[in-house]
Amino acid sequence: MSPCEFDRCRTHGCDGHCSLPSMRVETIGDATLYLGDCLEAMYHGSMPLVHHVITDPPYEAEAHSKGRRLLGKQEDGERTVEYGSLDFGAISPELRVECSRMAASLSQGWFLAFCQAEAVALWRDAHEAAGAKYKRAMVWLKPDGAPQFTGDRPGMGYESIVASWCGQGRSRWNGGGRHGVFSHAQRDNNHPKQHMTQKPLHLMRELVTLFTNENETVLDPFMGSGTTGVAALQLGRRFIGIERDPKYFEVARARIKQAVSQGQLFTPAPTQAVQLGLDEVTQ
Ligand SMILES: C[S@@+](CC[C@H](N)C(=O)[O-])C[C@H]1O[C@@H](n2cnc3c(N)ncnc32)[C@H](O)[C@@H]1O
Repeated sequence: MSPCEFDRCRTHGCDGHCSLPSMRVETIGDATLYLGDCLEAMYHGSMPLVHHVITDPPYEAEAHSKGRRLLGKQEDGERTVEYGSLDFGAISPELRVECSRMAASLSQGWFLAFCQAEAVALWRDAHEAAGAKYKRAMVWLKPDGAPQFTGDRPGMGYESIVASWCGQGRSRWNGGGRHGVFSHAQRDNNHPKQHMTQKPLHLMRELVTLFTNENETVLDPFMGSGTTGVAALQLGRRFIGIERDPKYFEVARARIKQAVSQGQLFTPAPTQAVQLGLDEVTQ
């Protein structure tokens, strides 16, 4: 095969036999990690189809700008705040559309994307334009979310997760009729933050348990410190992660390595759907 020029080689029919330019790819147990741009990695013909995409992309520009952020509690119980902007760029309209298109074309099942409430419609439109079937905007409730420091409006105690189905037939998950509301503290004393917007591991474990099954492959194109991957591996799933910041790639690599060395930690019992009688359902 002649060398690939890597202009969206998935559409060139290279079948992954061409090289992946300037991208480090590392396999650790059941995980494959890419250091580079997620679009380039997903365009490449060597990226396999996956069962599900679960990801936490950058948020809108206002969420990335300079502001007060809660850092957590100090030993004396005092909450501390930091003034500053995030150390990675906001999502752009082009990246939202294109990563949705690639995620929807690679996923055979769910496509879950975290976002702020104001961006739910934008993500829904992007998922649908990519051919995915929008199912629900879910909520991560943060009981310890930062207060509104200015005091001039209510604080934001939650983040959203847009869930769309990319598979054949009817969508299915392991949650039966339960609500898509997941309450998890942001702070996790067992797993100190190594990324500015690191998601709690227990939240990601709940999502992986509900939306995927053992031995399935989960792709996270915006892996950051690799929390989705750690949750997936602890639950006996396979993982593909992509991160373009070398600093965060190294953090993810170390966490994934540790998760692989520990092996599967949880064997989730199949969730039993509870069927309510119609008269028990309240609006
Ligand atoms: C919101 S953070 C993910 C945090 C992650 N959920 C965690 O728990 O650590 C989004 C990440 O996407 C990365 N990123 C942004 N644009 C990217 C791109 N085009 N390709 C790959 N990674 C990208 C950023 O460097 C950042 O680390």
